[in-house]
Amino acid sequence: MINRLALSFLAVLLATSAVALELTNAQRDAIVERIKPVGESCVAGDITCAAAPATVVSAEPRTGEDVYNAACMACHSTGAAGAPKYGDAVAWSGRIAKGMPALYATGVGGVPGTGMIAKGGCMSCSDDEVYAAVDYMVAGSQ
Ligand code: HEC
Repeated sequence: MINRLALSFLAVLLATSAVALELTNAQRDAIVERIKPVGESCVAGDITCAAAPATVVSAEPRTGEDVYNAACMACHSTGAAGAPKYGDAVAWSGRIAKGMPALYATGVGGVPGTGMIAKGGCMSCSDDEVYAAVDYMVAGSQ
């Protein structure tokens, strides 16, 4: 009885490993293609990707407004944790007086000991995208 069980278990194992080994190179490539990160792979029927998959990867940098809405607004629209609010000229005037390079630096590096963490927590943001978001906030707050 136990032997028979063990045998059928073995048979199942062999069958599944046989299936695994039967993948052709073409099937393997197809799988690799399917599990690529979004942006590198093409969804079936998408006529734009066959032409230029490379341009999908090198997407345009986001605008300051986009970055602000995605990553900064949570605190800077409400004043959460003491963040200077977007549009609040009084709250920003002293900061703007420090000069843009200082604000770019704190935008990217954060303000230690406050809620202003590095890049406002937007780790996918490039430095330039954070600078653009700082520009956007400063332009709208004076
Ligand atoms: C989790 C909340 C939070 C998020 C999200 C956040 N900030 Fe801030 N930010 C703060 C706080 C709090 C301060 C005030 C820090 C202080 O006390 O000087 C601040 C201050 C700043 C300042 C002024 C710093 C200075 O030197 O006076 C800039 C510039 C700034 N944030 C940029 C950004 C940008 C750009 C983003 C989005 C990419 C962002 N912040 C997202 C909380 C946040």
